[in-house]
Amino acid sequence: MRVAGALSGLMANRTKFQAIKGTRDLLPPDTELWNRVEQTAREVFGTFGFGEIRSPIFEPTELFARSIGADTDVVGKEMYSFDDRDETSISLRPEATASVCRAYIEHGMHAWPQPLKLYYLGPMFRRERPQKGRYRQFYQIGAEVLETVQPGQGGTKDIPKDAAVDAEVIEMVMTFFARLGLEGAQLQINSIGHAAENCRRGYVQKLKAALEKVKDNLGPDSQRRIATNPLRVLDSKLESEQAIIAGLPKISEHLCEDCAMQYAEVKRQLAMRGVKYAENWRLVRGLDYYMRTTFEITAKGLGSQNAVCGGGRYDGLVELLGGLPTKGIGFAIGEDRLILSLQEAGKGGAAAGRDVFVAWMGEKAQAAAIAATQRLRTAGFRVELPPVEQKFGKALGHADKLSARYALILGEDEVATGLWTVKTLVDGSQAKMSEAEFLEKLRNEVKK
Ligand code: HAM
Repeated sequence: MRVAGALSGLMANRTKFQAIKGTRDLLPPDTELWNRVEQTAREVFGTFGFGEIRSPIFEPTELFARSIGADTDVVGKEMYSFDDRDETSISLRPEATASVCRAYIEHGMHAWPQPLKLYYLGPMFRRERPQKGRYRQFYQIGAEVLETVQPGQGGTKDIPKDAAVDAEVIEMVMTFFARLGLEGAQLQINSIGHAAENCRRGYVQKLKAALEKVKDNLGPDSQRRIATNPLRVLDSKLESEQAIIAGLPKISEHLCEDCAMQYAEVKRQLAMRGVKYAENWRLVRGLDYYMRTTFEITAKGLGSQNAVCGGGRYDGLVELLGGLPTKGIGFAIGEDRLILSLQEAGKGGAAAGRDVFVAWMGEKAQAAAIAATQRLRTAGFRVELPPVEQKFGKALGHADKLSARYALILGEDEVATGLWTVKTLVDGSQAKMSEAEFLEKLRNEVKK
């Protein structure tokens, strides 16, 4: 019904379409940078032993509600949820950790070599207020390490191993950022302990009591969160709350022995790997599944939405979704923000254009131009072949507009002698050469 209504409305108004608020088209030459970033992620993650998972864009709403938490902003306010025709509720994925855990259980991946290392890239959907670096369809590059606890394993003796895994995952993101030349990436870490009375649960009680005392001086969001999710108050950016928050009890002083030991070991492991970090006791993250290690990375040039990566440990999530007791740690990078930061720093300089523009005139020259174009493209060069002949002056103007590097001029002379005229467009110099010589020149001078 709604589709039919929209159709008749359209025919009446001839509506001009625009991308839906918070979504956007990614266009060339920017998409070259997107591809380079994604290619680099595949290469770097591959060197750490990660394989790619591609999960569906939509999943049962319940999967996200149970994983991320019903009281979180993401599930409570930001999901695109709708009833399918059989009336089951489905949601566009707001993140992919829940999907990866679902897939881990569904495909019996606990029986695969452990720990299992997976990465993903693709669009996520959250109905947030759009602003610079914040979109309703945005892209993440993420990775997860999952390991099902074997009988007789787990507990305190696993702490050094878990901490090494945490540190290696963080090292991998930092290596990726360094490979891209991202400047000013700053890593912040924290431990939020685990859900037990002698650890986070006890701390949250203390925090709640402290917050109740200062309630009247807090803004409406934080006041509401005292009841729903007191840890999130620590996340507040509200200027007037900063001094109050600074005086609140700190989780690092309330971690149980194992969690404290794990946190200390993560720091030691990071140092061993030469990964620089700052501790931030207010880093609690916005999703419920986290325990122990949490981290975020900020980058330059992004304004208020400067978190370019967030992640942490989520032991227990697979079990919560019906699987075996399983440990997990991972992260997701906001690709839109990563690209923005690279572009702001002048690292986005995608070399659009063509390597060669083939300027041809005459029927015989067209056949030669097509054959030359095919061979140059097979050799991997970007070649523009105009579909109809152009006067040489016009062709060179066209080549300039496309930022071509060389114009290959093919007229009757060139066809007859087999020697091509090659014009270098930046300096206007011109030379005659054979096809083999031109290919050699391209190989030497054009970076593929
Ligand atoms: P998250 O912190 O919700 O974590 O998102 C990770 C990153 O995605 C953020 O740091 C940000 O760069 C980007 N991001 C989030 N929302 C938006 C938006 N509306 N527009 C643009 N970028 C955005 C997660 O999603 C977890 N699943 C990460 C994880 C994986 N933890 C463990 N494994």
